[in-house]
Amino acid sequence: MIMPMHALAEANTNIALVKYWGKNDPTLNLPAVPSLSLTLDGLTTRTEVEFAPSLAADVLLLNSAETGGEPLAKVSRHLDRVALALVGTTERPRARVRTVNNFPTAAGLASSASAFAALTVAAAAALTGGAAAAAGEFEFDRGQLAILARQGSGSAARSLFGGLVVLGVGTPGQVHSAQASQLLASSDWPELRLVIGVVSERAKDTSSTLGMNHTAATSPYFAPFVAAAPLDLLTATQAIKARDLTRLGEVAERSALRMHASAMAADPGVIYLRGSTLEGLHAVRALRQRGVAAFFTCDAGPHPKALTTAADADAVAAALAAVPGVQRTLIARPGEGARVLPLSPEPA
Ligand code: PMV
Repeated sequence: MIMPMHALAEANTNIALVKYWGKNDPTLNLPAVPSLSLTLDGLTTRTEVEFAPSLAADVLLLNSAETGGEPLAKVSRHLDRVALALVGTTERPRARVRTVNNFPTAAGLASSASAFAALTVAAAAALTGGAAAAAGEFEFDRGQLAILARQGSGSAARSLFGGLVVLGVGTPGQVHSAQASQLLASSDWPELRLVIGVVSERAKDTSSTLGMNHTAATSPYFAPFVAAAPLDLLTATQAIKARDLTRLGEVAERSALRMHASAMAADPGVIYLRGSTLEGLHAVRALRQRGVAAFFTCDAGPHPKALTTAADADAVAAALAAVPGVQRTLIARPGEGARVLPLSPEPA
């Protein structure tokens, strides 16, 4: 019998509360700062990888549409990377990769974090798991696969784990530096919520890699951002251990604003914030004035986001929904780490 080389995996995206921005080693994709994130339930990428000797080239189906160009090239490079690390060669059969986001890609929420985490786990399971992986049973070392996922996208390393997750700073030239690890499982602080205000995007953003490399190369505020990160990580870690939302939220808000300040001070400035993003920030702070524990964050895009609790999530979502330009809101709970699923008879 021919061993199946076919597996299905899913991963949730994550939101950084202490931001990763800047690389210590662009080739190995090693971060210049430590970061900390919350894995989000329900914002999920599901990816099926099938290695087939009959295929002449890798094939990518992204949300059911056959996709070439740079997305396919990135997937192929990542499959080579996983094959080299796990089976010692890039001489692998070509693969059919089907990947689906359960959240709207067009809204600009599609995340490289969930995408590279799911691709890494599915590829590892297909390459090394045999029939057990096809049946959804595959034991894997999350730390080892996080190192591979990180080389596709820094934030993807954190989506290997559920709950609250730390990604360490990288040492240049050392691929195994910048380890990811879980600080708290999703069930350890189940009341946490992340509210997202989905803003329509007219122009395509500068990618996070371009934005952070340009910031590191030209912003006088990049060095102070890097210098402040270890204390932010320490304070956030202590706040999480104490389940202290206010302290954690204050660090998250400051880390996001400092990341954006460093990007805006680049030459020319990298500006992800839109009017709706800033109005979202003010709406969150106005809620806080009224005693609601809510803390603003945002990433390399315009969507205002807020960290809060289950008790206040509806009020926070209503406040963000009232911001001009916010089209709708999502409320996410803490989610699980990446996992392998049994292959379904239908295509994933
Ligand atoms: O993983 P990347 O290369 O897409 O970079 C992520 C950068 C931020 O989302 C802005 C911050 C973070 O830590 O996730």
